[in-house]
Amino acid sequence: MHTAALARSIPFFPYPQVFLSEEDDLVSIFRDVGRRGAFILQRDVAHFEENLARFLNARHAIGVANATDGLLIALRAACAETGGLEPGSEVIFSSHTMVATAAAIHFAGATPVPVECGADHLIDPAAVEAAITPRTRAILPTQLNGRTADMDALESLCARHGLLLIEDAAQALGARFRGRCAGTFGAAAAISFFPAKLLGCLGDGGAVITGDSEIAARAAALHDHGRGADGEIRGWGLNSRLDNLQAAILDYRLQKYGAALERRRALAQAYRDALADVEEIVLPPGPGGDPDRFDVYQNYEIEAQGRDELRASLAASGIGTLLPWGGKAVHQWEALGLRTARLPRTDRLFESVLLLPMHVWLTEEEVAEIAGAIKDFYRGRVFGGRNRNER
Ligand SMILES: Cc1ncc(COP(=O)(O)O)c(C=O)c1O
Repeated sequence: MHTAALARSIPFFPYPQVFLSEEDDLVSIFRDVGRRGAFILQRDVAHFEENLARFLNARHAIGVANATDGLLIALRAACAETGGLEPGSEVIFSSHTMVATAAAIHFAGATPVPVECGADHLIDPAAVEAAITPRTRAILPTQLNGRTADMDALESLCARHGLLLIEDAAQALGARFRGRCAGTFGAAAAISFFPAKLLGCLGDGGAVITGDSEIAARAAALHDHGRGADGEIRGWGLNSRLDNLQAAILDYRLQKYGAALERRRALAQAYRDALADVEEIVLPPGPGGDPDRFDVYQNYEIEAQGRDELRASLAASGIGTLLPWGGKAVHQWEALGLRTARLPRTDRLFESVLLLPMHVWLTEEEVAEIAGAIKDFYRGRVFGGRNRNER
């Protein structure tokens, strides 16, 4: 048994590194922005929006306060043309997502309709199709863990049923499906810059992405008190702007972002090399395993037999792990009133799902230590499961 704690611990996510790894450059940015007195909607926001749109090959990017607001703004801006989301209208999403996805649908005035995910943990198009009713207005897939859903299937469902596609790309900046970036498929999308996200800032931040100039203009007004570029109030709006300081930091980080994605993909391969023969766990698809996709591994999400015991054993060895969303899918939270949804596959998945450390500061040696601790845990234990090591 692997009971001895490691000489040093491996946290699930080393938050201080978000600052310490680039401290000098960040302090210079802070000084520059501060000395210019450039705090709200200044050139750094505009530059970052331009560079982000270029990176995604998208027409428009609008910095917002966080991706939850971004999804709300995307929904409202995209639905405005047809009179908004009237009460009783439904938006379909995968229950394996952050509560934020459903909250945005709720606050946009519609009913969130949770559905099952498939074997790769992303929204299952067959489940989406089965959930479509005359009240359905939109499908809101979450591009989970840095991987895109089956966008061909979802686009064709939207076309056939006259539905809007809005993407929750909070976890998927740079992920691609058939060469197109997450965030550029539907009418609009939102991305998160929470510190632990793929591209993180020093607090909350987000962006709305769209290829439609009308939606972009509405989103820009919605995020700034309803004001248009000329300062005229066009309608009711929020205050959900991306801070100029955060935009300056994100713009600096975006320049090095390609290398960060390659690093995550290399670590995913290292996990795969080390763990592929462990029968009791199911790994995410490897990088390069699917010619249609470029996965960027926001998270490394496994299924593990004896998950809670494994988690405790890893913790005793100084290795941090996380249960996604606090351990429950959205429909499982009593307070949200979505418990009537019957999602047995997702219920089962949430008994075994576990996030292992995955971030750019993780080393191959640490991956080997984590893999060794997992193997030590299973050695000599019998869980009676078959080898389901591919998904
Ligand atoms: C899938 C998903 N959707 C939405 C959000 C909300 O993003 P934010 O924290 O920027 O509001 C997050 C993460 O925080 C997320 O992981």
